[in-house]
Amino acid sequence: MTKPAPRQPTILCIASYRKGDAFLVSAKRQGWRVLLLTSKSLEHDDWPRESLDDVYYIADVEKRWHMPDVIKGVSYLARTVRIDRIVALDDFDVEKAAALREHLRVPGMGDTTARYFRDKLAMRTRAKEEGLKIPAFVPVVNHGEIAAFLAETPGPYVLKPRMMAAAIGIRKVATPDEVWSVLERLGDEQSFFVLEQFVPGEVFHVDSLVSDNQVRFAVASQYGTPPLETSHDGRVFTTRTVKRRSPEERALLSFNRTLLKALGLRSGVSHSEFIKSRADGSYYFLETSARVGGAHIVDLIEAATGLNLWAEWARLECREEIDPYRVVPLRREYAGLLVSLARQERPDLSGYDDPEVVWRLDKKHHAGLVVRSPSLPRVETLLASYTERFYQDFFASVPPRMTAAE
Ligand SMILES: Nc1ncnc2c1ncn2[C@@H]1O[C@H](COP(=O)(O)OP(=O)(O)O)[C@@H](O)[C@H]1O
Ligand SMILES: [Mg+2]
Repeated sequence: MTKPAPRQPTILCIASYRKGDAFLVSAKRQGWRVLLLTSKSLEHDDWPRESLDDVYYIADVEKRWHMPDVIKGVSYLARTVRIDRIVALDDFDVEKAAALREHLRVPGMGDTTARYFRDKLAMRTRAKEEGLKIPAFVPVVNHGEIAAFLAETPGPYVLKPRMMAAAIGIRKVATPDEVWSVLERLGDEQSFFVLEQFVPGEVFHVDSLVSDNQVRFAVASQYGTPPLETSHDGRVFTTRTVKRRSPEERALLSFNRTLLKALGLRSGVSHSEFIKSRADGSYYFLETSARVGGAHIVDLIEAATGLNLWAEWARLECREEIDPYRVVPLRREYAGLLVSLARQERPDLSGYDDPEVVWRLDKKHHAGLVVRSPSLPRVETLLASYTERFYQDFFASVPPRMTAAE
């Protein structure tokens, strides 16, 4: 008697924004049935359709979904399709995926953990309980508590939406009086923000892959200019990988491991950020997420290590349950990334022709590239000179965004 063929496992990928092509392609390559749930407004985008077994569209208003309908829709689908995994490809989809897993009892991150990776107040509260170093903060809930916080915490302060990304809606506020007047203006919206002390320093990010509660792969990098200045003052965005085996790298990777364990990321991908305080030289937790870093950080990591985080994450999610996830970087080099808004619709990057240039951004009104070298000083030199040239050749700026819909 021949054994029946094993059932093809199914993964449901949620992307309310256009994201994660390499994940979809890689999941299909692992032999999985790949379903995509996306926004109706992205119906005509050039998704990698040859890797998708089916696409379902959710009516959206500026990418926002009505979750009760989504839950009913996916439950209807689940009458006939057994869904083995659900993944969120964008930050804004993390809680949607969790809600669906909870409802359908699909394994993976549930509501409670998802909240730690989405809500800047929840992640802070949890990190503080776990004894991690974080900037002083207060929930924007009880006015007595806010007053006490302002009395004992010197400014400036940052007031940020709890559930946003890309520095959207973040305000730097100088004085307690100004804080109160901003809160007054926010009215009923204020409890959706968190207030914290501004900690001047350099901002770092660690991008990692996690399985069975262990960080299996992590790369530490440093933003050239802190993202708040980049988005608010209008700057060329740069980041580069940090020196391997330096005290800086060790400190960041160790903090990242402690953080992800404390917040309970069992499996998946994470982009986390830290500030190295100029005042005391120590590292403070800034934020974390259960997603691939945005702003082409994937291309930075791929240049340095040869690994594409999207593709690796799919390999991690779609492996046989009994197989441990193993990952080895293909190379250990250094990489730097630059991205700027461009005055030109199609900026000409052909003059940036050093052999270290390994990737160029192809996007209207944007200029961007990645350099790679076994030498960190070489990456730094190239980044410095290219940044100067970007300001002259392409740079343009727009006012900071205060909502995701802009
Ligand atoms: N407490 C803080 N101290 C200093 N800079 C901060 C602080 N909070 C945020 N920033 C700046 O704002 C940027 C965005 O804040 P972050 O919490 O990372 O939100 P987002 O989700 O928008 O990336 C940071 O990269 C950093 O430059
Ligand atoms: Mg950030």
